[in-house]
Amino acid sequence: MDKELVSNGNRKVLKPETLMMGYGYKPELSEGAVKCPIFQTSTFVFENAKDGKEFFEMAHGTREPGKHGAGLIYSRINNPDLEILEDRLTIWDGAEACAVFDSGMAAISTAVLELLKPGDVLLSSEPIYGGTEHLFESTLTKFGIQTLNFGVQHTRQQIIEIVERAGAADKLRMIFFETPANPTNCLIDIDMCVEIAKHFSTKDRKVLTALDNTFLGPVFQHPIKHGVDLVIYSATKYIGGHSDVVAGACLGSKELINRIKSLRVALGSMASPLTGWLLLRSLETLKMRMTTAAQNAQEIAEWLSTHPKVEKVLYLGLLKRDNPQYIIYKKQCLSPGAMISFLVKGDELASFRFLDSLKMVKLAVSLGGTESLAEHPAAMTHSAVGLEKRKEFGIADNLVRLSVGVEAAEDIIWDLDQALSQI
Ligand SMILES: Cc1ncc(COP(=O)(O)O)c(C=O)c1O
Repeated sequence: MDKELVSNGNRKVLKPETLMMGYGYKPELSEGAVKCPIFQTSTFVFENAKDGKEFFEMAHGTREPGKHGAGLIYSRINNPDLEILEDRLTIWDGAEACAVFDSGMAAISTAVLELLKPGDVLLSSEPIYGGTEHLFESTLTKFGIQTLNFGVQHTRQQIIEIVERAGAADKLRMIFFETPANPTNCLIDIDMCVEIAKHFSTKDRKVLTALDNTFLGPVFQHPIKHGVDLVIYSATKYIGGHSDVVAGACLGSKELINRIKSLRVALGSMASPLTGWLLLRSLETLKMRMTTAAQNAQEIAEWLSTHPKVEKVLYLGLLKRDNPQYIIYKKQCLSPGAMISFLVKGDELASFRFLDSLKMVKLAVSLGGTESLAEHPAAMTHSAVGLEKRKEFGIADNLVRLSVGVEAAEDIIWDLDQALSQI
């Protein structure tokens, strides 16, 4: 499937949701199969030794790829399921290139290990996914890479001062951030981060920006259009969307993604052919799933906000026009998405009672699946965050996080209502 169709001189540029059905796949290369098969093979037969030599030259970047791409060698280097998936994933974000991985953490760790070196400083937003924080604080420090932090409350000037006060102005190499922040749904201004990166960049040292777009992307937030260099996903979440696969993706310029792919070959952090195939299938319903889940979430958030057992609801679709966060929301988000956090009236016991009383919504971490999931950030996903930090970020003992699925909204509301009545 091509991006554009032409008939009688009329051109039609196809929408991303249409391209998800077939972009990058050529049935004629697979016995006419309408869907891309699973290329469950570790290695590929060369037609002759010259081809083998040339394919390796393409893989090393010393020869331009041929008509059908770089030539298949070995599934740690390339595989049709991954290559087609990578082409298709570039569509939503408008990226030049993509690399897929066997987890979101594999995507993040491979990207930062390739792009940072000893002596570099990484500036990271907080709160951030716990696995990412652990990688930055415990693993990168072993390689001499220091991490500085900023929060959603900091202004552009304050963030610049954090870097300058740490004596890191000439060592800053990357700004890594997550927006909306998990689990509070606070927003970080993407344009501001891009400006800060430019502020610290010099002729010889470009400060890169990397955004973990797992919560709203790839349908509802497009960071590359704001000038972000790298967009990263836990594809385990909305992209996979069925809570049955762990995967990751990283998107950006050809130059950066080629570098990241070289390290992926060395580390062996690529996705398997089956994972690639599962994600290709999931992409066909991505927009439908994300749209339905977001519609459900708006209805549920509005209902929760009037419930007598609920203290406060943190949901982008409830932001008031006079809230400065609303201005950021309008600039960079196309929908409030389907992640809701709310404070129940009471303490940890009250929120545990609520969670234990759910009958249909599952008590589980993770998010972005077709089914609704609820969890307790302070005791579960964010339990490794120190008490002081949890207080600072608003991760209270009565906070519950809900990943809204595509079930009937009235069924989810019925379940939440009966569980709230148990408090
Ligand atoms: C925002 C975010 N980024 C990254 C990850 C890590 O992804 P994975 O579990 O696929 O390695 C997660 C996992 O929960 C996440 O929520």
